[in-house]
Amino acid sequence: MSQFVEVRNLGDHVGAVVSVRGWVQTTRGHGKVGFVVLRDGTGLLQCVLVQKQVAPETWERFQHLTLETTISVTGEVRADARAPGGHELTVQELEVLAPSEEYPIQPKEHGIDFLLDHRHLWLRSNQQRAIMRVRSEIESAIHDFFYQRQFLRVDTPILTGAIGEGGAGLFEIEYFDMKAYLAQTGQLYGEAAAAAFGKIYTFGPTFRAEKSKTRRHLTEFWMLEPEMAWYDSNDSMKLQEELVSYLVERALERCRDDLAVLERDTTKLESVAAPFPRINYTDAIRILKEKGHEIEWGSDLGAPDETALAEDHDRPVFVYNYPKEAKAFYMKENPEDPRTVLCDDLLAPEGYGEIIGGSQREDDYDKLLHRIREEGLPEESYGWYLDLRRYGSFPHSGFGMGLERTVAWITGRHHIREVIPFPRMMTRLYP
Ligand code: 4AD
Ligand code: MG
Repeated sequence: MSQFVEVRNLGDHVGAVVSVRGWVQTTRGHGKVGFVVLRDGTGLLQCVLVQKQVAPETWERFQHLTLETTISVTGEVRADARAPGGHELTVQELEVLAPSEEYPIQPKEHGIDFLLDHRHLWLRSNQQRAIMRVRSEIESAIHDFFYQRQFLRVDTPILTGAIGEGGAGLFEIEYFDMKAYLAQTGQLYGEAAAAAFGKIYTFGPTFRAEKSKTRRHLTEFWMLEPEMAWYDSNDSMKLQEELVSYLVERALERCRDDLAVLERDTTKLESVAAPFPRINYTDAIRILKEKGHEIEWGSDLGAPDETALAEDHDRPVFVYNYPKEAKAFYMKENPEDPRTVLCDDLLAPEGYGEIIGGSQREDDYDKLLHRIREEGLPEESYGWYLDLRRYGSFPHSGFGMGLERTVAWITGRHHIREVIPFPRMMTRLYP
């Protein structure tokens, strides 16, 4: 028997007889001709069986094929521009490797709860596979972007003491005879690493026990967090716009087919190029009031506010220098207006909202301690973090980009639960 060939490599075997293995994605028959679309993880292949040209057992097996049965097929590879993937296999033999009876996901509309309950199977479908390929491409692009700029990748802990963003909920777990918390952010450890290595980034899962059931919130999500010694808030925004432009460009360059499967309007992505518009918070409030939003200076922006600010632009927009009450304790006081801090949120177009939150960090020991106390945070947990201001403080900035929000925007998915393989939400821990 010939060796198994991956569907993506069939172009090297046109005219040859090869074997391919995978799962039955669809079958149909027209009298004496049968079609099976086989999926092997690398692509789709239309297999054609002509009753007269195959053994009766093979024809019989074909007639009983059910969705997601594992099979192997042997036949001749033909180039066919109309076929998915550009090739077709004229089948000589077909074997069943493992059965699949009454596959739960049928070619019809299923409700979202049903699909999420069957996420382990739903991942096999065309659109879900396209989303995961884009996600993987974006992850690779992140590493390439920072490697090219000589940032060091530093891995920060998931199990932490009571230290993080403050505010948003912490997941508490038993840790021998202590309490531990799942990391809300790697930033504070990233700051320690920036004093050791200059420019670093961390990329990993982060956790928020947020009781929000919105299309933008997960309880476990992946965050990219660069931290740069000597960068001010402006330098950081420049890096953010370069990064986001690069990620979009990579998706357009390498994921065209996937974006087509997802019916993404790519013209909306073509215009995403640095520089991005910058609106200071005070102007943002004025614009929102003009648009009829009920919002006062001092409060954080809500999802509808973010959507309204972004809708006037064809690329993401920065809103910068928010009031300190609206933001985390570690952000540096704005010397030109101490009611505000040196920070930015990057808002994606088309209603996707905040994809990045960043800031210059407070590098003054006394001011930082004052903020920790003002926010009522457990001072004892922040001892090591304060050390970074005690032993060789330095100006530095960084930001956090939510991977799922970014991928949801690039792929045009409405809800971020679809862009992570196994979403974790307030009411979902299975599968
Ligand atoms: O704005 P956030 O809370 O910022 C931080 O955690 C900083 N420590 C980052 C830093 O400066 N190093 O979160 C950053 C980003 C948000 O802009 C959003 O994209 C994403 O993380 N994010 C979430 N994504 C999905 N589900 C949630 N519950 C999220 N919370 C934040
Ligand atoms: Mg934020």
